[in-house]
Amino acid sequence: MAEDEPRNGAPGMQSGPYQGPRAADVTPEPDHSDDPGYITRTRFLSNAAFAGTGVLAAAIMVPVVGFAVTNPLKRENYRWVDIGPASDYLKNPPPYVNPTPSTKIGEVASLAVAGPSSDADRRIYVVYGLKDPSTRPQPSPDESSEAFDKKFAAWASALRAKDFDLLAIWNRCAHLGCPVAYSPGSAGYVCPCHGGAYNSRGLVTGGPPPRPLDRVDIKIVDQTKMYEPQDIEAGKDRIPLEVAATSNNPNLRVLVGKPYSIDQEQQPFPLHDPGMPVSGTLSHLYPFT
Ligand code: FES
Repeated sequence: MAEDEPRNGAPGMQSGPYQGPRAADVTPEPDHSDDPGYITRTRFLSNAAFAGTGVLAAAIMVPVVGFAVTNPLKRENYRWVDIGPASDYLKNPPPYVNPTPSTKIGEVASLAVAGPSSDADRRIYVVYGLKDPSTRPQPSPDESSEAFDKKFAAWASALRAKDFDLLAIWNRCAHLGCPVAYSPGSAGYVCPCHGGAYNSRGLVTGGPPPRPLDRVDIKIVDQTKMYEPQDIEAGKDRIPLEVAATSNNPNLRVLVGKPYSIDQEQQPFPLHDPGMPVSGTLSHLYPFT
């Protein structure tokens, strides 16, 4: 063999003009696979990916869980607020003599009520009206006005105080919180933001709201009478509506208190934020719905 002829196959030997190190020259890395304390690049990347996934999951779940857990625990101190004499709200009570379709059946009043925080400031509608507004007769297309007037008079004449109740309805739309307005023409509430519609009791009749309008505790008391806190808690200070509606006592006052949410069956629930359903499957999936 010539002196300058390359010796192919021999480790560490040059076989061309390249004079640098060859793969065969590299000393193999020691094998640390059995050493639990040694971090290989693969193990480091796996751990980093695992940790990143955990951080991402926490970033998503912590606000959701915090919202779900702390919201029901959030306590706000509400106190009863005197909003005036009962006679200001219990207007047009039954019985009705010679009623016509234009006879006022109860009344809806609107007023602003300040709460202990700006979030608690609210406008409420105080509704003295029918427990079941759907009983009110509506004219049918082929019905004469005389026939309808007669039907209406018979229905209205039969109304009694027991057919009425007193509600305080919060004007915060149950969809995204826009202020709803009472529409006397439709005897209901309409939301200017996305067309949410509610009947006179705040129950949803159309649009996107997931639940009815929230309500506020309301009661009628005699301001000349004193009660122990536990008796007030038990409701012993409350004057029955049927009594108050026919009373001339100037000391009867209307008080409003704590807000709460309801479902379409008017069952009470703790106060929910706008957008939150209070019952049904969607209430369990919120806020993913
Ligand atoms: S906020 Fe009222 S319908 Fe959307």
